[in-house]
Amino acid sequence: MIMMNYKALEEKFLRLFGGDAADIRVFCAPGRVNLIGEHIDYNGGRVLPAAIERENCILCRPNAEGKFRLAADDLDLFVVADPAELEKYRGKAWESYPLGIAWALREAGYEICGLDMLYWGNVPFGAGLSSSASIEVATALCMAVMGGCKEPDLVKLSLISQRCENAFVGVNCGIMDQFACAMGKKDACIRLDCATLAYDYAPLELGDYRIVIGNTNKKRSLADSKYNERRGECETALADIQKADPSVKALCELSPARFAELSANITDETCRRRALHCVEENDRVNRSVAALGKGDLAEFGRLLNASHASLKDLYEVTGAELDALAETAQTAEGCIGSRMTGAGFGGCTVSLVREDCVDAFIAFVGAKYTEKTGLVADFYVTGAADGAREITAEVR
Ligand code: GLA
Repeated sequence: MIMMNYKALEEKFLRLFGGDAADIRVFCAPGRVNLIGEHIDYNGGRVLPAAIERENCILCRPNAEGKFRLAADDLDLFVVADPAELEKYRGKAWESYPLGIAWALREAGYEICGLDMLYWGNVPFGAGLSSSASIEVATALCMAVMGGCKEPDLVKLSLISQRCENAFVGVNCGIMDQFACAMGKKDACIRLDCATLAYDYAPLELGDYRIVIGNTNKKRSLADSKYNERRGECETALADIQKADPSVKALCELSPARFAELSANITDETCRRRALHCVEENDRVNRSVAALGKGDLAEFGRLLNASHASLKDLYEVTGAELDALAETAQTAEGCIGSRMTGAGFGGCTVSLVREDCVDAFIAFVGAKYTEKTGLVADFYVTGAADGAREITAEVR
C-alpha cells in the first residue's frame, strides 16, 4: 500500500479493540479533483472529475456487542454508537458521516452489523478535495460488505452516500463527489452526465504534464450556506425559463445559443449570471472532452482558465485566496491552465503543469500567494487513481 503505514495502524487497531489481526479487513476510497464542470452537477450538467492519489481507509472487524465503535487515527476520538440510536448523531460532527452512512444504508434496505472501525486518511480536511465524500464512500462499501452484501454496486453506494450527506449531515450537495470517489479509475477521468448518471472513462493522457493541486489553506466559512444560496439562484433561473419553455428540465440542457434566446425571461440579474455560468461551463466541458480527445492540451488549459474566470465573475464563488492562487498559476512558466476546483469559497485549485517545471511552479506560486494573502499554500502533485475498493491482505 502506497501511503499508509499498515503495520502501525494494525497495532493501533489491536491496542484499541483487542483480538486477532487476522480478521481485520481494509476498505478505502480516494478524494477527488474536478478537472472542469463546476457547480453544474446539480443543474443536470456534465462533469470531468478524477479520483486522486490520496484516500481514506478503514480497518474494520465485526464485534460481538452489535455496536459501532469508531476511532480515527489522527483525531482524539472514540465513539461507541448503538445502531438503534443513529438519529442522535445527525449533524456535521466527524462521526455524523460514518453513522449517517449506516442510517442511509439501512434506509436503502442493506443489512448492517456492529463493527470496530479505525479510520486513517491523507485527504486534507475541508479543502474541497472531497474528504467527506471519501469517508462516506469508504464507509458505505465497508458497512455494505461487512453486512453481507456480496456484490456491492458502487454507483448505488455513491447515491446512498449522497443521501447521507443531504439528509443526515445536512449539506445539499450534488452527486459528483461521491460518484468520483466511488468510481474513479487509475489514469482516467470520469465523464459523468449528472442528468442521467451515464458515464464513461477517458484516458487522462497528459503527456509531459502533471496535475498540481494547490490548497489555499483558507478556512471555509459560510461555504454551506453560500452553496445552498447558489443552488436556489439556479432554481429561480430555471423556473423563469420554464415559464417561457416548460420543456426545459435543467439549465445545462440549454446550448449557449438557446440560452441567449431564453435568458431575458430570467428577471433577476444575479440569477441570470448564475445561469449563464452553468450553460457556458457545460459547453466548456463538452469542448474539453473534444480537446482531450484530440490531445489538444493547450485548448484544454484555456478552457480551465475560462472556467475560473466564470466562477469568479459570474458565479462568484472564488474569493481573494482562490483568485490569487489560480491567477498566479496561470502566469507561471510551464502552466497551461489553472482554476478553482470543488465548491469554492476557499479550498483548492487544479493546474496543469509541465513536469520539468513543477518544482519551480510550486516555489513561484507559493511565494507569490503568501505575498498576496499572508497564507501558506500546500501543493500536491497527483495522477488519477482508482476509486473505492477493498485492500486485501496480500497487498497491504
Ligand atoms: C461540491 C459539491 C458537488 C459540486 C461541487 C461544485 O463539491 O459536493 O456536488 O456541486 O461542489 O461543482
